[in-house]
Amino acid sequence: MPIVLPAPERWFASDNAAGAAPQVLEALREANEGHALAYGNDPWTRRAQEAFKSLFDRDVVTQFAYGGTGANVFALGCLLRPAEAVVCSRNAHVTYDETGAAERIIGTKLLEVDTVDGKVTPLGLSSVEHLLGSEHHVQPAVLTITQATEMGTLYSIDEIRSLCDLAHDMGLLVHLDGARIANAVAALGGSRATLRAMTFDAGVDVVTFGGTKCGGVFGEAVVFARPELAERSKYIRKQTTQLHSKMRFISAQYEALLQDDLFIDLGRRANTAAHSLFTRVSELSPLDLHVQPAVNSLFPRLMDPAKSTLQEWSFFWDWDVAASQVRWMTAWDTSPTDIERFVAGVRQVIAN
Ligand SMILES: Cc1ncc(COP(=O)(O)O)c(C=O)c1O
Repeated sequence: MPIVLPAPERWFASDNAAGAAPQVLEALREANEGHALAYGNDPWTRRAQEAFKSLFDRDVVTQFAYGGTGANVFALGCLLRPAEAVVCSRNAHVTYDETGAAERIIGTKLLEVDTVDGKVTPLGLSSVEHLLGSEHHVQPAVLTITQATEMGTLYSIDEIRSLCDLAHDMGLLVHLDGARIANAVAALGGSRATLRAMTFDAGVDVVTFGGTKCGGVFGEAVVFARPELAERSKYIRKQTTQLHSKMRFISAQYEALLQDDLFIDLGRRANTAAHSLFTRVSELSPLDLHVQPAVNSLFPRLMDPAKSTLQEWSFFWDWDVAASQVRWMTAWDTSPTDIERFVAGVRQVIAN
C-alpha cells in the first residue's frame, strides 16, 4: 500500500545528497568578485592555509583537491614509494568504493586487514608485519584509517593513538580519511582540542579533511602534519589530476567552514538529527536498532515490500542486501519536520 503522508523535504539517503551551507554559498559569491591568479596563487588559498595552521595549532601544510577519492589518492601518493603498499580496513572507502583508483593511479597495493565494526584492529595491523623486509612482498608503508568510519562507527582517541604508535613502530606512516571528520569531532568532544587530539597529537601524519559532506559544494583538503611530508605534494597533486585551476573556489569554502568552527557545528547538527531519528524509531522492533548512532547514520533492517514502499516515497540506499540492511543518513540540514515525516512513513509501513 503506498504511503499517503507528505514525504520529508530532505531525504535520508546521504549527507552527500544535501545542499551547501548558506555561509559556504556566501563565501563563494564573495570569491567570485574580480579576478585572481589561478592554481592557488590567490588570497583565499593563502588565508585558508593559514586558517588550517591555527585550527591545528601547528605548522601544517594544506593542499586543496577536487573530491574525496582524488584527495585520498593524492595524499597516499605523497607517502608512498615504488613497491610500497597501504594497509586498510576491509570496509575502507579507498578499497571498496574508489573503483581501484589508488591501484591504478598511484600503482600501489591495498592490503585489507582484520576489521571490527569498520575499524582496523591492532591485530589486523600486526598481521602484515611479516611482509616487512622481504623482497618477495610488497612493503606496507602507510596505514589508512577512516574517521568516522564507513560503518558509522568511531575510533576513540586512544584507539587512534595505539594504532599510530604501532604503525610508527613498524615503520609505517598514518593517513586518516576524514570525509566525515566534522561528524567525528562533534561526537568526540566538539572542539578544536578534540580535532587535534584525534589527529596529529595522536600521531596521524596526513589527514584528508572533508568539506563536501559537512556543507561544502565540492573540494577536499589534504593536511600534512609536517612540511617534509608535503615536499613533493605540489607535483603529485597535479599528476593525480587534483590541481584545480580556480582554486579560490575551494579555499573560500574552507575559509567559511573553519570560521568560528562552522564545520563542527554542521557535523553536530547531522549527528543530533541521527540521534533524534534513532530515539523515535528504536522501539520499532522489526528495524533491529539497538545502539545510538555514533555519528550520522543508522543501519536498520527492512524487508520488501516495506523497504521498496519507503524507498519509493523517500529514497535511501540499500546497505547489506544479504542482511536486509539499509542505511539512513542525516545531514547538516535535516530538520525536525523531516524527521517527523520520515518516522510517520516508517511507522505506517511497519504497521501494514
Ligand atoms: C569514507 C569516505 N571517504 C571518501 C569519500 C569521498 O568520496 P568522493 O570521491 O565521492 O568525494 C567518501 C564519500 O562517500 C567516504 O564516505
